Amino acid sequence: MTPSLNHVAIIMDGNGRWAKKQNQERTFGHFHGVEKVREISMAANDEGIKVLTLYAFSTENWKRPLQEVEYLMQLPAMFFSKYLKELMEKNIRIETIGDLAPFPDNTKKVLMNAIEETSHNTGMILVFAMNYGGRTEIVEAAKKYQSAVMNGSMKDPLTEINFEQFLMTKDYPPVDLCIRTSGEQRLSNFLLWQLAYSELVFTMTAWPELSVEEFRDLLKVGLSRERRFGGLV
Ligand code: FPP
Repeated sequence: MTPSLNHVAIIMDGNGRWAKKQNQERTFGHFHGVEKVREISMAANDEGIKVLTLYAFSTENWKRPLQEVEYLMQLPAMFFSKYLKELMEKNIRIETIGDLAPFPDNTKKVLMNAIEETSHNTGMILVFAMNYGGRTEIVEAAKKYQSAVMNGSMKDPLTEINFEQFLMTKDYPPVDLCIRTSGEQRLSNFLLWQLAYSELVFTMTAWPELSVEEFRDLLKVGLSRERRFGGLV
């Protein structure tokens, strides 16, 4: 077991390119991407990771062709219909960050059901970032802070620590490591505030073909780097 990684975040990229390489539709890649979510989540749980946050649908993903967006909306149902039982057995709790409001009713229902069913589990928290964007999160947090000041519930001056209480990740430990698959080296609006001091690890491997062995190696790369948080020690 790899010690002391509390919170790992993953940008699951490359489903579409992986599928195209095999002369398949992009949705074939997403289908296999769902299976990989199960495999890597279970591996993360075995590694003792406390929070695993997965970028499943960004605020920018709405710009994709309608047929692909509709397919992406079905992924939660595909995942939870197969694996909710196993998540319960492993004591894993499901949560989401992002604005679920624009999703179709059935997608929302499936997600809310998984959150509710697993809400008493005390093991790893598996967070799906759904219709999530880092800039929107920061703006929304600023608005919440402003309202709290206006209604008198926030009397303290604005500090980084106070501000974090208004982010969607307020209940989670800081992100230690962010992994991005499939070769791109950017954040794509993922956890902009939270990744300020995280280790970033990139792999050429597409998400659907990331093996548990490589995932463990990436965790080790993250752990082996010395984090100084801008200081000298
Ligand atoms: C980006 O790869 C990936 C996505 C937009 C979808 C990621 C979602 C999953 C892997 C499954 C989510 C599972 C649940 C249960 C919600 P891309 O297809 O854009 O890659 P490309 O850059 O090759 O086109």
